[in-house]
Amino acid sequence: MDARTLKIKAAAEALTYVKDGKRLGIGTGSTAEEFVRLLAEKVAAGLDVIGVPTSERTAALCRELGVRLTTLEETPELDLTIDGADEIGPELALIKGGGGALLREKIVAAASAQMLVIADESKNVAVLGRFPLPIEVNRFGLAATQIAIEKAAAALDLSGSVTLRMTGGEAFVTDGGHLILDASFGRIPDTRALSNALHAIPGVVEHGLFLGLARVAILAGADGIRTRTQP
Ligand code: A5P
Repeated sequence: MDARTLKIKAAAEALTYVKDGKRLGIGTGSTAEEFVRLLAEKVAAGLDVIGVPTSERTAALCRELGVRLTTLEETPELDLTIDGADEIGPELALIKGGGGALLREKIVAAASAQMLVIADESKNVAVLGRFPLPIEVNRFGLAATQIAIEKAAAALDLSGSVTLRMTGGEAFVTDGGHLILDASFGRIPDTRALSNALHAIPGVVEHGLFLGLARVAILAGADGIRTRTQP
């Protein structure tokens, strides 16, 4: 089964959690896009939901397909966020931000009563960190922030390259106007300690460790769908 088919299967299962009247957070990335496509079919058939998109990219797709959108200003409390992930680890801790939308994704997930993650089984890992950790940073003081991140990591016995994300020869710029540093630390045994250390650095806007946010993960594999839950 190819990767896209697995993403569609996970997205289809997630759709069973979406009921009339729900206020949704709508994720970013290729798996979330499959969800938006299936959601749009249900909306066209009469499902009444409203969603806050986690990126301009997702907003554009929702508009194109006729999924009604709102903002966190108009609708500050959401029922359910459905989003992809780059890695899913123990206790449904996640690495997100491969698509660069981590800040809005985290704000939207935190404003939701429940976060549901959809992915193919390859994203499920025993320890987070094989996927480089995206860290969204302010443009001001970039070099100083990078050094501070490296020092904070070293204090936790983590090391590895910290590189500015580029696209088409230019620095990648997030929807919020910030930059992204991708940190290849390898295995991150103590995610909470790294999260706290990164949050203590003034130039760090947010990082891609999502801890204590996801409650359900729907994983699609060759053998079918597996659901992981976290109380
Ligand atoms: C976007 O910033 C990310 O957090 C995505 O949710 C994540 O990268 C998963 O994307 P895919 O579904 O494309 O793998």
